[in-house]
Amino acid sequence: MKGLILSGGKGTRLYPLTYTSAKQLIPIANKPVLFRVIEAIRDAGITDIGIVVGDTAPEIERAVGQGGQWGVNITYIPQEAPLGLAHAVKISEDFLGQERFVMFLGDNVIEGGISTLIGQFANSDYNSQIVLTRVDRPQEYGVAVLDDKGSIVKLIEKPKEPPSDLALVGIYMFDHHIFAAVNAISPSWRGEYEITDAIQWLVDAGHNVHAYVHRGWWIDTGAPGDMLEANSLVLEELTPTLEGYVDRDSEVDSRVTLEPGAEIINSVVRGPAIIGKETRLVNAYVGPFTSIYHHCLIENAEISRSIVLEHSQIRNINRRIEDSLIGRNVVVHRSPIRPRAYKFTLGDNSHLGLLGNDGE
Ligand code: DAU
Repeated sequence: MKGLILSGGKGTRLYPLTYTSAKQLIPIANKPVLFRVIEAIRDAGITDIGIVVGDTAPEIERAVGQGGQWGVNITYIPQEAPLGLAHAVKISEDFLGQERFVMFLGDNVIEGGISTLIGQFANSDYNSQIVLTRVDRPQEYGVAVLDDKGSIVKLIEKPKEPPSDLALVGIYMFDHHIFAAVNAISPSWRGEYEITDAIQWLVDAGHNVHAYVHRGWWIDTGAPGDMLEANSLVLEELTPTLEGYVDRDSEVDSRVTLEPGAEIINSVVRGPAIIGKETRLVNAYVGPFTSIYHHCLIENAEISRSIVLEHSQIRNINRRIEDSLIGRNVVVHRSPIRPRAYKFTLGDNSHLGLLGNDGE
């Protein structure tokens, strides 16, 4: 089998973080989501992987390379514009040939990997296998209606009035019949070639499409809230390692991972949390469900349930920062010069929550 990862698209819901970088490279527990996807496919025994890339291709190629660090072989497939998931399959036909394949959306994170799913599909006579899971807001996803026996009756992309709460997870398995499907469908109301429509086409043409209902957690990391949620879930699963330095005045509990070169000086870190390479905490508190990426400084400040990207600094802040997603090379600090006013340099579409005078 081969693997196909979709890593094009624009990531508009994660602006401003994704103005300058690919959303699939934002780290969850200090590892880019795309790396987690590559590892999930590799762990299922697949080493021939295509990655569909768009405008952010140079950045993705720089980060992933030829795949040697994971023992896989990567082929890049450029997509001229994000014309839809089915379009991405269409342009990958030369790479995929007649082989069965798994398509994995580059911004999805799933509990427990995909080895069982792949094993099941590889040894079956299914033409396709889709993964479904129950969600609270089905209107934001592709939705499936199953009959009493679990067979697919209907698939609809982001329905205004969802007929069920079973959403399509961004992991799909196909054989070569999918190419006839993606070539037969027309663009949807949002102008995209929808993979949901292509799968419906397979069902209507009498092909064997199997629906697997996933019961663990799964997150499409499209929006900031989803990122923080995925970060918490992955941190819970991490086996902690301590490769950094902790001084005698600090307290670091057993659910904390310190990456090489991390330094904890007169600080408290409560896990699950991860502190990245060469990052320093000085007189700081880092609370549960927080990931601080590499080369950061947190000094005289407190932060919890947040993600901080590389080379950022948080200094001399006397209120705890919570539920925040802080980008690269960001500096958050209390200004030493008068007047004592807030001074900001915020990118377009930034979100800033300030406390009122009474602290509320
Ligand atoms: O996450 C699951 C959902 O993913 C499914 O429930 C939906 O049925 C499916 O359509 C898809 O919906 P999204 O609106 O979340 O897809 P999004 O546009 O976010 O794209 C998903 C990934 O695919 C993302 O990593 C970008 C990449 N992509 C997207 C498009 C439209 C491409 O590489 N090329 C594209 O043309």
